[in-house]
Amino acid sequence: MPEHPLTAKIEFPVTGEVCEVDYDDTLVDATFRYELPIRYRCERAVCTTCLVEVLEGADHLSPMEDREKQTLAAVKAKPNWRLACQVSILGDVKLDYISITDSRRKPEETTTSS
Ligand code: FES
Repeated sequence: MPEHPLTAKIEFPVTGEVCEVDYDDTLVDATFRYELPIRYRCERAVCTTCLVEVLEGADHLSPMEDREKQTLAAVKAKPNWRLACQVSILGDVKLDYISITDSRRKPEETTTSS
């Protein structure tokens, strides 16, 4: 018996897409096979086009490598954001794509009290 599930479910609760992939499939492969709502450009952790918010199952994604950490830090990413082009699926996850025009990408405004 394997120590991990044979398949994993990827769910996009906001837009409704659901698919089941093999354990350790990349999110890039899953996106193209199942037409998931994620866009890519560089596929090398540079452009951030593939940014996703992990709604559930962050520990079911492959660990973050240095390049992804550096790119996410440069865009002041939230702790639950990942670059889909750098991720393999190790268990069930719920994701939401953050497009390049998504307001979540804008830096939080500082509020001043008067
Ligand atoms: S596609 Fe460019 S960072 Fe993922």
